[in-house]
Amino acid sequence: MLDQNQLKKYNQEHLSEYEKLMSSNEKEKLEAKVNDLDLESIQQLFKDLYINRQSISDVSTVSEVKYQRKSDLTDQEAAKYKHKGLEAIRNGEFAVLLMAGGQGTRLGYKGPKGSFEIKGISLFELQAQQLLKLKKETGHLINWYIMTSDINHEETLTYFEQHDYFGYNPDNIHFFKQDNMVALSEEGRLILNEQGYIMETPNGNGGVFKSLDKNGFLDKMATDGVKYIFLNNIDNVLVKVLDPLFAGYTVVHDCDVTSKSIQPKDGESVGRLVNQNSKDTVLEYSELDEEVANTFNNANIGIHAFKVGFIKQVVNNDLPYHLAVKNLKQLDEDFGVVEKPTLKFELFYFDIFRYATSFNTLQVNREDEFSPLKNKEGKDSVETATSDLERMNLI
Ligand code: UD1
Repeated sequence: MLDQNQLKKYNQEHLSEYEKLMSSNEKEKLEAKVNDLDLESIQQLFKDLYINRQSISDVSTVSEVKYQRKSDLTDQEAAKYKHKGLEAIRNGEFAVLLMAGGQGTRLGYKGPKGSFEIKGISLFELQAQQLLKLKKETGHLINWYIMTSDINHEETLTYFEQHDYFGYNPDNIHFFKQDNMVALSEEGRLILNEQGYIMETPNGNGGVFKSLDKNGFLDKMATDGVKYIFLNNIDNVLVKVLDPLFAGYTVVHDCDVTSKSIQPKDGESVGRLVNQNSKDTVLEYSELDEEVANTFNNANIGIHAFKVGFIKQVVNNDLPYHLAVKNLKQLDEDFGVVEKPTLKFELFYFDIFRYATSFNTLQVNREDEFSPLKNKEGKDSVETATSDLERMNLI
């Protein structure tokens, strides 16, 4: 039974109306799910993140991160980092972690974003090829950890199988799923998805470390002698997955968090990598006033290396949720399918930076290393990604 008092207290009385149209089996499932939820904290999130939402405009405590330009490195320095990086990779000090649980809504592509093909080569394959090249150079096949989500896990696995893992040894690829979080209507109410279940959506990429740990992979890394996790997004077609220079830069400076950045363009949809209260952090573009964003010189491009020891220490620490409003298909009161603005709650991986004590940033050239595939047309689109790949002779 649903507790009517609880429903009333937390503005969820509509669920009883839904129940009237449900079979007993459906009711049972709904009740089990709702009774499992912490309605109090869900309502609190709704109030904090939606009703009282604010963009970040006061940046008086924020300053530029300390960073080094790759172009300022002398040839000797670059060669030294590269050499150190290759040595560390050969010694098995790095694992690679790919975040591929996102939805790719803006691209308007139904499958996992990594399976999107440009001239017959998928984003997954572009990244696999680089790790295979590193195997040739160092003799070491990197363990590749790939985060998926409920919305694309099976399809991702099938895609890899169908493509023979792009020549990778499947024993060295470790898929794991991130968690979900309930979505809400703009009135703060739980929603039914098209299948008639309480709607949940992937809980953002910030669940990555907890999910990695839950699957035993942080322990595996420690047992394997891995010291650093190289992390990257799925959709940057120019990403240099674990490039030796950056690996060496990470090892030599040995910070909790090492990031790659680029010089952002005004108004660009990228987080700004900044320093606040002596910690590096990312101010996300979706939460930042544009004029304020334009005053910073480093953009987050989703490329970092984390010390495994640091992640192990802080993996269970709390991270805050962030709000995203997306148009999602759902059931209305008469069980018809409608598409409505829906509140999604997401964790961001870079919020873990707050628990770190040492940071380092290497700013690289956008032309060489950043071309994200986000949209169907226009900026950061299939067209720009294709021409950048061609320009770099990668396809
Ligand atoms: C992200 C960064 C932003 C950066 C930009 C560079 C975050 C929160 N923001 O923005 O600071 O400037 O990339 O391109 O990371 N993902 C999951 N599970 C999820 C959601 C996302 O695995 O639930 C993965 C995506 O598959 C992708 C990555 O996280 O690989 C980034 O997510 P996306 O939603 O594309 O973030 P952006 O808004 O592009």
